[in-house]
Amino acid sequence: MSPGDGRGHALRILRAGTGEQWATYIAETLIARLQVTPSLRVCLPTGLTPVPVYERIAGAVAAGRASFARAEVFLLDEFGGVAPDDTGRCDQMLRRDLLDRIDLPPERFHRFALDGDVDAECGAYEQAIGSGCDLTLLGIGRNGHVGMNEPGSGPESLTRRVELAPETTAASARYFSHDRLPTWGATMGIATIMRSREVWLLATGTGKAPIVRRVVRDAISPLVPATLLRSHPAAMLIADADASALLGHGVG
Ligand code: PGA
Repeated sequence: MSPGDGRGHALRILRAGTGEQWATYIAETLIARLQVTPSLRVCLPTGLTPVPVYERIAGAVAAGRASFARAEVFLLDEFGGVAPDDTGRCDQMLRRDLLDRIDLPPERFHRFALDGDVDAECGAYEQAIGSGCDLTLLGIGRNGHVGMNEPGSGPESLTRRVELAPETTAASARYFSHDRLPTWGATMGIATIMRSREVWLLATGTGKAPIVRRVVRDAISPLVPATLLRSHPAAMLIADADASALLGHGVG
């Protein structure tokens, strides 16, 4: 594993080896943050990428090596127009993959209900995040989205209702057991994410290699929202060997 300076921009790049080494590194680093700051305020994503990380964190909590008893978890985003008990909802996924298996008090889990005035709810969510999370974990979409900040999302964007890119709606089919796929959602904005003290952008697998290369090399632009993280003072791209395969030598 070799942290690099990313050729002059602020984004640190960590090439974290095999998928197994990658997941262990991220889980252990998060556990270390929790040990230093038991009241850690952390933003967590869903999607397939973090699942092996959550598996390891749940194992550490079960083994008594980590505790979320004083922590706070903010869900990064949520699909709209989906029933509260739909297994494809982001809050349901995070519960299944992590929260049901750790000691986080239920009232310390912040999520989107999206069953009433969505704009008001997003405003309240932004308020609850306040000065920012301590740590934000993000996956990355093949179009460069982070959370549901689709291409075109600017650096000033806050927690809000968003329309999903058609490819994001199509990709959501892997989460749902029916074909009524979501076309909108609610997400922390880029500005909300940028207030986090630390941001880790997670990527695994060859399918993510092209977008990982673009995040590192393309111009910083809302057209590839993940590039905006390069302006963050403590953002880190943590990619396994497959996802970093197109970065070339000397980067990370
Ligand atoms: P994935 O999704 O982790 O399932 O690849 C990431 C994303 O689209 O943000």
